[in-house]
Amino acid sequence: MTETMRAVVQRGYGSPDRVLELTEIERPAPGPGEVLVRLHATSVNTPDWVLVTGTPAILRLGTGLRRPTAPVRGSDIAGTVAAVGPGVTDLAPGDPVFGSVWQNRAGAGAGTFAEYAVAPADRLLRKPEELPFAAAAAAVMSGITALTAVRDAAAAGPGTRLLINGASGGVGTFAVQIAARLGARVTAVCSGRNAEFVRALGAERVIDYTVEDYTRGAERYDAILDNVLNHPPAASARMLAPTGVLIPNSVGRGSRLLAGLPRMARAATLRWTGTRVRTVTCVPDRTNLAAVAALLGTGEVTAVIERSYPLAEAARAVAHLLGHRARGNIVITL
Ligand SMILES: NC(=O)c1ccc[n+]([C@@H]2O[C@H](COP(=O)([O-])OP(=O)(O)OC[C@H]3O[C@@H](n4cnc5c(N)ncnc54)[C@H](OP(=O)(O)O)[C@@H]3O)[C@@H](O)[C@H]2O)c1
Repeated sequence: MTETMRAVVQRGYGSPDRVLELTEIERPAPGPGEVLVRLHATSVNTPDWVLVTGTPAILRLGTGLRRPTAPVRGSDIAGTVAAVGPGVTDLAPGDPVFGSVWQNRAGAGAGTFAEYAVAPADRLLRKPEELPFAAAAAAVMSGITALTAVRDAAAAGPGTRLLINGASGGVGTFAVQIAARLGARVTAVCSGRNAEFVRALGAERVIDYTVEDYTRGAERYDAILDNVLNHPPAASARMLAPTGVLIPNSVGRGSRLLAGLPRMARAATLRWTGTRVRTVTCVPDRTNLAAVAALLGTGEVTAVIERSYPLAEAARAVAHLLGHRARGNIVITL
């Protein structure tokens, strides 16, 4: 008899409450090199609402025209190993783990908005005992993206003048903390209601975008991490010091057809005029998982979680992130 599990299945593209449904589906089984994890927590990230809404619509050419071929959203994982597939020797049933199903057999629909998910063993790391499951789940995509942007793309170190646009969101809250810990001088851009909050995370200066446009200021920066892309990339690039680097990091917002893709493309073309441009790819491998675990382990960096939802309210969790006003991360706990 096939075993089943509760999962949130996507029936088409549209608003989360219309297209996401909690239902019972077949429980996946781990193949060679894979691990079946019983979820305790997962988090909601930009790729989830992008795929739920089908925006930018052009992505549907690759993900499925009428509905995503992979029906279950979610990629970040924190839970307990339930079973291991052939060839997995360093994880065993009962182990607490965190990581990502990124690059699993997503075509089979094995996302993490479910009671169980299958992940490649090399995308999972034993979870430090003191790290709560929800924080571990929140730290995967947001934490690794922020770490890659700040440590690698911005090469932040003591005294680096780093501006972070979208400083109070899931990626931004990790980026501010990591940059401050590395000794960077962080200018955080967010709305006034979040000013004190990002200062407490380590920002030296805050620009309230409702009263001030950072692309018109007098300051110059060694790096700009743009998680919003609400300004033309050339305007942001003008705020860089001569050897400064622009890090465009948003595909989500813009027209229905293309969303932020044209601005990402325009940012890339700035290279031709001599601007240093670096993009960020979140790679949830064991090295990066260990790096975020180490940061969280010291207590100097914390996973900011604005709200956690039960699995049955996954649609509300996605809608929360889709509102673009989340303070930190949104998680789903089971
Ligand atoms: N490269 C990768 O692999 C990768 C992976 C994940 C995500 N991303 C990208 O990272 C970006 C950030 O993701 P996220 O999860 O942090 O987003 P998020 O959590 O949805 O960001 C929400 C935050 O954005 C702030 N915000 C909204 N409008 C703003 C504006 N006009 N100016 C400045 N801040 C504004 C809000 O602050 P207020 O409430 O104060 O307005 C809120 O705190 C996304 O665009 C996503 O595409 C990239």
